[in-house]
Amino acid sequence: MLSDKVQVNRQALIIDCDTGVDDAVALLLAFKSPEFDILGVCTTDGNVSAEQVARNTRIIREIAGREDVPVVIGCPRPIVRDPVEAGHFHGESGLGDLEIFEPRAPAALGHAVNFIIEQVMSRPPESVTLAVTGPMTNLAVAMVMQPEIIERLGPVIIMGGARSEGGNIIASAEFNVFADPHAAQVVFTSGCPITVLGLDATHQVRATAERRAAVRSLGTPAARTAGRLLDFAAGVAAELMDGEDPPLHDPCTIAFLLRPELFATRACAVLVETGSPLTIGHTAVEFRVDPKTASIHWVTRVDADGVFDLLLERLAL
Ligand code: RIB
Ligand code: CA
Repeated sequence: MLSDKVQVNRQALIIDCDTGVDDAVALLLAFKSPEFDILGVCTTDGNVSAEQVARNTRIIREIAGREDVPVVIGCPRPIVRDPVEAGHFHGESGLGDLEIFEPRAPAALGHAVNFIIEQVMSRPPESVTLAVTGPMTNLAVAMVMQPEIIERLGPVIIMGGARSEGGNIIASAEFNVFADPHAAQVVFTSGCPITVLGLDATHQVRATAERRAAVRSLGTPAARTAGRLLDFAAGVAAELMDGEDPPLHDPCTIAFLLRPELFATRACAVLVETGSPLTIGHTAVEFRVDPKTASIHWVTRVDADGVFDLLLERLAL
């Protein structure tokens, strides 16, 4: 286990999120992992409004004691479609039943799209890693504004889409893509090398009662918060997901960056439905591609025990 006292070649990381319950757990995992030099956390609208997402992100940052990391507010709405939210999954505040307070530290000045462009263009090529756990609006707009970032970005890991798992916000679409399908289309067809964690992957990682109890038992502020959030998600899943245990979507992006060996991927192409009212946001994940030239890799298998072992290890810090 790395100590944050040990000088390591830390991975420059930008997280772009729509802080709801699982984004919050992903942020706690990242904030507690000394392998990362978190350049900033960018926000957009998604699970709840853009204003609530920015506030939620600052709340989690304060709980984790990481006010050294800037929170940079981004696009307040999707590129084309009207905003959609997922408050039924994340609670009215977006943070389940956590106590909501006005965080001490403000958001940074400036816009997340400019922040992403400035960080990627001012640092060595492929040195900035990007994890996207919400609608891809900020990244898509940054790619349009400054196409050079497409080749200059380091590893990009995105939670979004679905293939064999259908959908979670409508029958045929996953929320992050459904919320801004045009942004997803821009990103997935950009040629940027991306690893995608769709529902096919995240539905393999369930916050079971045993795993949630293990998180709570750690007793640190981060673990208490994560345990409360996961318990809230379990209550929602019991009601809305036919009694299933809640999937751990967004933390899988951070776990992939820390322990890629826990994940299996397959080369693919991803196209997004943007026109049909019935299937808007559907991701057509095509495996019949040349693996030597394909830019997208789809996560097909996850070692869920390994992901939770990592989460427990870091939340204990
Ligand atoms: O479909 C799951 C995704 O949508 C997660 O990122 C969750 O936070 C919501 O944004
Ligand atoms: Ca999210």
